[in-house]
Amino acid sequence: MKLPQLRIGQMAPEYPIIQGGMGIGISLSGLASSVAAAGGIGIISGTGITVEELRHHIRKARELSGGKGYIGVNVLFAMNDFAEKMKAAIDEKADFIISGAGISRDMYAWGKEAGVPVLSIVSTAKLARLSERLGASAIVVEGFEAGGHLGTDRPMMDILPEVVEAVSIPVIAAGGIMTGADLAKALSMGASGVQMGTRFVASEECDAPLTFKQKYVDATPEDLVLVKTTVGLHGRAIRNTFIDIIEKEGKYKVDRCHKCLKNCSYRFCTLDSLFRSLKGDVEKGLVFAGARVGEIKEILPVKKIIERIVDEYRLAVALG
Ligand SMILES: Cc1cc2nc3c(=O)[nH]c(=O)nc-3n(C[C@H](O)[C@H](O)[C@H](O)COP(=O)(O)O)c2cc1C
Repeated sequence: MKLPQLRIGQMAPEYPIIQGGMGIGISLSGLASSVAAAGGIGIISGTGITVEELRHHIRKARELSGGKGYIGVNVLFAMNDFAEKMKAAIDEKADFIISGAGISRDMYAWGKEAGVPVLSIVSTAKLARLSERLGASAIVVEGFEAGGHLGTDRPMMDILPEVVEAVSIPVIAAGGIMTGADLAKALSMGASGVQMGTRFVASEECDAPLTFKQKYVDATPEDLVLVKTTVGLHGRAIRNTFIDIIEKEGKYKVDRCHKCLKNCSYRFCTLDSLFRSLKGDVEKGLVFAGARVGEIKEILPVKKIIERIVDEYRLAVALG
């Protein structure tokens, strides 16, 4: 049984599965190329790397995937280098650009001019409608279960039907998708595909250090906390020393300011805390994770993760 075909612009991947962009070195060329090669869509996160590094990872991902599948770039509107990164991604001929943490009229115009689809990550039907009107090629609707910064406190499955109803472009469901049964449910509710982050972190090819992946395998639902970062949004994190200090003292020493955010609360440095965990210090760094991280029991190759999801999907559909 073939899975429903996801189409966004010229893209028609084998499976309707997008690996979410994950900032500060978690989804770079290693993870994105593996997902693309396994029949999904990979995303390189442009956050926390330089423009030159972004260019390098786009080229490397193409090389590693052997030109198979599709590779996009995630850029965050809230960051000061948003425009520069978006232009670099267009220049390097990324298959698409996906923007989170805000939208601007310009980004759709730049994409259109270059013939590169621009997708928006939103958490409300209102923003989905606005994105479509401004020129988005597809919408990623992200619910409260997602990893990373959160734009809502509502479950994804509650928002999904509202967004499907509001727009006529493809809608991708993100947040709390772990299994093929979740994929089947999202598609039955009108989604054209899913975006998954947490499940792909615990993969062999994920660009995060092993300590970070192991933190996912070890996490239980009781370890999860919501933390308001200096971006001004909540993010779900796995409890560690860093979280204990933030909860107790409300702040964590900032060594130097990177001037990365358009607006920052300066209580701690979100970028540095993510850098610390990227370097392997998962006690003093910030470890973002999705709500269902507790279900992850092992680190697997990306190909195996996708094969399992496809098998589970088929079983779920067969059982009705
Ligand atoms: C560790 C981590 C980092 C993330 N970083 C980003 C990011 O930089 N930009 C972004 O748009 N989304 C980010 N996300 C969200 C993912 O792209 C994806 O939409 C989300 O994780 C889907 O929910 P799931 O984790 O339950 O599958 C991140 C998620 C995780 C788990």
